[in-house]
Amino acid sequence: MNKYLGTILNSARLTSNVFKLVVSVPELTENVTPGQFCQIRIATELSHDPLLRRPISVADYDPTRQKLTFIIRESGRGTKFLARLVPGQQIDLFGPLGTGFPVHRLVKGDRALLIAGGIGAPPLYYLARQLHANGVECATILGFRSHSESFLIDEFSQFGPVRVVTDDGTLGSCGNVCTEITAWTSEGLDWTHGFACGPLPMLQALQAQLAGDGRPVWVSLEKRMACGLGACAACTCRPANPNSTASGPRLVCKDGPVFLLGEVELGE
Ligand code: FES
Repeated sequence: MNKYLGTILNSARLTSNVFKLVVSVPELTENVTPGQFCQIRIATELSHDPLLRRPISVADYDPTRQKLTFIIRESGRGTKFLARLVPGQQIDLFGPLGTGFPVHRLVKGDRALLIAGGIGAPPLYYLARQLHANGVECATILGFRSHSESFLIDEFSQFGPVRVVTDDGTLGSCGNVCTEITAWTSEGLDWTHGFACGPLPMLQALQAQLAGDGRPVWVSLEKRMACGLGACAACTCRPANPNSTASGPRLVCKDGPVFLLGEVELGE
């Protein structure tokens, strides 16, 4: 993990409140694993407002051109500043941070099921791209509130079949990612490893649905963070089994944000 200066190369609006930033980070030579994140803030000598960095998942990384892609949903003052950056503006970032998805646990011929809810889609896009490059088959379920909030569907379709589900039925099936897993399974969906990222109620529902399934499922958790470096304990979560060998509290920013489903308690 290091501190870098990045320059916005491209910015695009994907939905009414979701924006994509492609950032040139010429000094970045570290490997970036899907699921890792960066702590970002606007770089300006005139103002350090807002002071706090925001943890943003890496949505893609091109190591040959040292380009990072972030997809940011405006959800407060800090993310609004970041999401509205334009080409030429600069950010400073710490990263890559955290423990990402175990890409190399899968080999050619394995079948991954990727399950994303809303703004959980971006880190899974980078994961899908790497898994596909490694010969892993990818099937994706993308859940959104409505058609107008959907994004990245064509991008995921490059890597395998995609099912879209919306709360109001304005795109794809009407329902949620759990109902879509059930429907697709009845039509023959077969997978060996699962990956999920999305809001906490979605992950809790997945845990209930897949409990006892036996196939490994990794989830990326979102938690309020401060330092992002494992130093402040703001992002603590409890292990699901207090009698396990690693029974101490776990830090989402350092031990995660990716955990095996069932490894930690999925709570606020
Ligand atoms: Fe400080 Fe995780 S955010 S320890």
